[in-house]
Amino acid sequence: MWEEDVRLMQEAGVNLVSLGIFSWSRIEPYEGRYEMAWLDRVMDLLHAGGIAVDLATATASPPPWLSRHHPEMLPATADGVRLWHGARQHYCPSSPVYRGASKRLVEQMATHYASHPALAMWHVGNEFGCHVPACYCDVSAEAFRRWLEARYGSIDDLNRAWGTDFWSQRYSDWGEVLPPRRTPTWPNPSQQLDFMRFSSDELLACYEIEHAVLTEHSPGVPVTTNFMRFFKPLDYWKWAEREDIVTDDVYQDPSDPEAGMRSAMAGDLMRSLGRGRPWVLMEQTSSRVNWREVNVAKAPGQMRLWSYQAVARGADGVMFFQWRQSRAGAEKFHSAMVPHGPVSSSPVWKEVKQLGQELHGLDAVCGSRVNADVAIVFDWESWWALELPSKPSIRIRQEAQLEDYYRPLFAANVIADFVRPTDDLSRYKLVLVPNLYLVGDDGAAALTSFVRNGGTLVMGFFSGIADPFEHIHLGGYPAPFADMLGLRVADWLPLADGESVEVVFADGGKGHGDLWSELIETSGAKAVASFGGGRLDRHAAVTRHEFGGGTAYYVGTRLDQASMARLLHTVWTAAGVSPQLEGPAGVEAMRRSVGRRSILFLLNHRPSAVDVPLAQAGTNLVDGSPVHAGLFRLGPYGAAVIREGW
Ligand code: GAL
Ligand code: ZN
Repeated sequence: MWEEDVRLMQEAGVNLVSLGIFSWSRIEPYEGRYEMAWLDRVMDLLHAGGIAVDLATATASPPPWLSRHHPEMLPATADGVRLWHGARQHYCPSSPVYRGASKRLVEQMATHYASHPALAMWHVGNEFGCHVPACYCDVSAEAFRRWLEARYGSIDDLNRAWGTDFWSQRYSDWGEVLPPRRTPTWPNPSQQLDFMRFSSDELLACYEIEHAVLTEHSPGVPVTTNFMRFFKPLDYWKWAEREDIVTDDVYQDPSDPEAGMRSAMAGDLMRSLGRGRPWVLMEQTSSRVNWREVNVAKAPGQMRLWSYQAVARGADGVMFFQWRQSRAGAEKFHSAMVPHGPVSSSPVWKEVKQLGQELHGLDAVCGSRVNADVAIVFDWESWWALELPSKPSIRIRQEAQLEDYYRPLFAANVIADFVRPTDDLSRYKLVLVPNLYLVGDDGAAALTSFVRNGGTLVMGFFSGIADPFEHIHLGGYPAPFADMLGLRVADWLPLADGESVEVVFADGGKGHGDLWSELIETSGAKAVASFGGGRLDRHAAVTRHEFGGGTAYYVGTRLDQASMARLLHTVWTAAGVSPQLEGPAGVEAMRRSVGRRSILFLLNHRPSAVDVPLAQAGTNLVDGSPVHAGLFRLGPYGAAVIREGW
């Protein structure tokens, strides 16, 4: 079958294959006995077929012998339940047994394959944290204590940082400190937040161990590990700094009408994590997944469309899970590039082949960049803290907040990067802060000076509330931003599920808010919109404040989508931000550029053809056809990649 595979790969234009991701038990079937002849054969076959390899370190799923001999390397849940072998990813990230065994395996892999001509990239582990983002076992408890000691130095400082006088939690000895295991009610929030930081760091340490072996024995070969979009447990800002190339796995739900918007957002995040460098779509499905309750198939053309979308958002490569649909095992009902049945009668195979052939015409895109005038502040620590329990409303969710701000940008083809609050923001015209519940002094200072220096900023409610210890910033909410925003929030009035409140804009336009409302006392800020009726009647709901050389807006409720779109449209226009293209609804337009040359991506997210007005002529790289200024026709789920004027 392997020879047939290579032939089919050539037919589909495949030039990079991820290999060996879950092969540990094959490569090392007994402790210390490495069997690589079979893998050599695959590597050689691929190379002979002109196909390069993204070779896995194979550490993502330990072999059964390891946990049989060392059950202490198995992870434990917060309830103390051990997770056994028999699925995958059953390891405690802090386990010296796991770390040692995986390091030895990577040493074997790296020395054996460093000079293999097929090797193009190293794939460390797989989707770190996907199934086991944190471990609560005794080994992890000890590692957590060491991590805390390094962070706080003394037990007194830990007590202060965690506010342990509340509920009699004061620790007198490091040995008393535990991971936030199952407790009668909420564990200490600062402890939970530190445990999330620790858990992200522990998995990163596993990655680092492998990374160090690879750079030593296989220098010059790029190293990656595949991300999972907005994956909460891992602080990808930290992780991406340790990767040569950012790669991502994207599994849109075809039954989600906003799937296209969500994968665009993920693409922008990946580009931003790589600080603008091109990334690679490491995994997507050719049609269905197997892990939802109902696994809706992609519509004909949708896989191709979403592949182009990744490229439009900055990817230089498009890959899949899985190559050939497996016959046995947990993922045999997951679609593949090559289906169970004959390829000749598979529409999916036809689309895979078409995409592969077309991508070969897109060399001009490789290495090109995306330029954004808008930045969206997004911080993992703030996300973790925001979604801890025991809040005025646990309905405020980080991803939903991001989407509320992203949706109008996506609909209008305005490009945005994601940034950390402490990043240099000077190249942006507009900064959006959908929610920044937790912020340190440095982040607050950076955002404030962005506005002072002439920038425009929009901040959402319940931002600037806690410091990095999860203690309240005192002095009136949101204390770190009160001067910049020209207001104080005197009281929070969260809205019940299903409750909404009228919002009246200064120009007479009306909308509504839900989820949240608050009593804003302005001190310099002007109301852009006010609440209408109820306890907050005529009090400000949305404000604007001229601060230094810039302008800061504040949004004190969750506006309905039309009002949010109207507000942001006014704001970005005033800030001098322009859309990529003003076209028909449902058509996504993006540009990548090389110097002053630009490539325009047009993506039709609708199942019917549409005409898009183009200002410039060019060439459609997808099929080499000339493009004229004027109306350009895109078929159902159609995609075009237009080299503009060159
Ligand atoms: C990813 C994983 C793959 C496969 C895929 C199924 O999470 O990396 O190995 O399980 O999902 O959609
Ligand atoms: Zn553990």
